[in-house]
Amino acid sequence: MIQLVDDLLGQMQAKGAVELIEDFAGAIPIEVIGNLLGIPRSERGPLRDWSLAILGALEPQLTSEQEDWGNRAVLEFKTFLGQIVDDRRANPGNPETDVLTRLMQDDPNGGLTEVELYQNCIFILNAGHETTTNLIGNALDLLDRHRDKRTELLNRPNQIATAVDEFLRLESPNQFGNRLTTEDVTLHGQNIPAGTDVHLCIGAANRDSRQFDRPDDMLLDRRPNKHHAFAGGPHTCVGLTLARMEGKIAVSRFLNRFPNYQIADGAKRGGRIRFRGFAQLPAQV
Ligand code: HEM
Repeated sequence: MIQLVDDLLGQMQAKGAVELIEDFAGAIPIEVIGNLLGIPRSERGPLRDWSLAILGALEPQLTSEQEDWGNRAVLEFKTFLGQIVDDRRANPGNPETDVLTRLMQDDPNGGLTEVELYQNCIFILNAGHETTTNLIGNALDLLDRHRDKRTELLNRPNQIATAVDEFLRLESPNQFGNRLTTEDVTLHGQNIPAGTDVHLCIGAANRDSRQFDRPDDMLLDRRPNKHHAFAGGPHTCVGLTLARMEGKIAVSRFLNRFPNYQIADGAKRGGRIRFRGFAQLPAQV
């Protein structure tokens, strides 16, 4: 991963004027997930657009165009995966290191059906791509707006682990969780009957002053930092260790290479309700 990040940094250095989402934040998770699923490098081109299309179709209000685009992306991705799966069946990888081979293995309770196999691959891409892109993009935006914090991190590079969690808390890449209550629940005096759709506002919980001292301030060494960026309970993000690792390597190596970077005019938010991040983040490095 370090090599991948350094290669991207080298390409950006040669350009000077860069687009941090396309050239960096969005490129890292695509390569990482491409490696996880064993998708050949030369064939990873459409992955990012498929992921954006599918996640875009999760917004609470959709145009018919967004819905069509999302459905089309699932079908195209499935066809694409068909070739990869056939190839892996013929040439299985090491199940300890190759996620696709592992997913295709039988287990005592019966393996995944064909549909489950495809859906899990699509899910891994979707779960790990835009979220991690947002983490890296949001972190670089925060460190541009708070130059004193950038200096602090440059002077104390071993703060990167707690810093990444603080970026996740302040600008959570995934702002919502959805749950359906299976029994009556009482929360803070509020009765929620069984069968209620509950929308959990992760971004708001992460700035709750009952949990966090100075919740709107960025404290790079905040400890404890019990944020909900990765949700909680049985469905806590299974990619959280990988995501944190991507965030730490990307942000620390970027800062080392480009300590004086500046976000340029033309930054554009993703415009999603569920996901918080940037569609475009031009910068001068
Ligand atoms: C900064 C990056 C990430 C953030 C903020 C994030 C956030 C989340 C959240 C909030 C959930 C819970 C969703 C829910 O149940 O409502 C979740 C679940 C999940 N995430 Fe992540 N995620 C990130 C990166 C990743 C990566 C890199 C992967 C894998 C490559 C991944 C795989 C998953 C999977 C498989 C689940 C479903 C777990 C389950 O339902 O049991 N995530 N993630």
